[in-house]
Amino acid sequence: MKGVPGLLRAAATGELPAWACVDARRRRHSQGVARLLGEWADALSLPVPEGERWRAAAWLHDALRLAPPAELLPLVGPGFRELPGGMLHGPAAAARLRADGVTDDGLLLAIEYHTIGHPDFDELGRALYAADFLEPGRTFDPLGRAALRARMPAARAEVVAEIARRRIGHLLRTGRCIRPETIAFWNALVGHAGA
Ligand SMILES: [Fe+2]
Ligand SMILES: [Fe+2]
Repeated sequence: MKGVPGLLRAAATGELPAWACVDARRRRHSQGVARLLGEWADALSLPVPEGERWRAAAWLHDALRLAPPAELLPLVGPGFRELPGGMLHGPAAAARLRADGVTDDGLLLAIEYHTIGHPDFDELGRALYAADFLEPGRTFDPLGRAALRARMPAARAEVVAEIARRRIGHLLRTGRCIRPETIAFWNALVGHAGA
């Protein structure tokens, strides 16, 4: 396990960096995601520092959720500038963390792509993608999401693929653009990477 910088250790307990921009509702959401990831890390008997890493990513993933897009745009790389304003917070938070000295590439990718999905996600990246969708405070389809939560983390490969299917389905139904990373993520989940 890479050393966990103080910032990540603090985040694992719910202490966000000074640059975070959240309200009480967003804090509750991040707390719910952290609780899920903590439960899953325990159920998987992950080492304590890895559980801490998972909880830190959960607390940090939406740390800039309420920052104005105009403030986030200058933080993100050119590859993200076309994202809808509401999706800039992941890449922007990852950029902030990188600037703060965080070097854990798996954690940074998990946060950067938590709304998009990425074929190079490690276990944490996939778990964060799932927990963000399954967090109990969300109001849509509570029964369907509870059923998926109950299968975590044992059936995580199937559950993450099901969540990706629903999210990509929503993009298709609403006529949205689908990023190549999302398609590559899907292909990786169903075992056809590069096919
Ligand atoms: Fe988010
Ligand atoms: Fe979130």
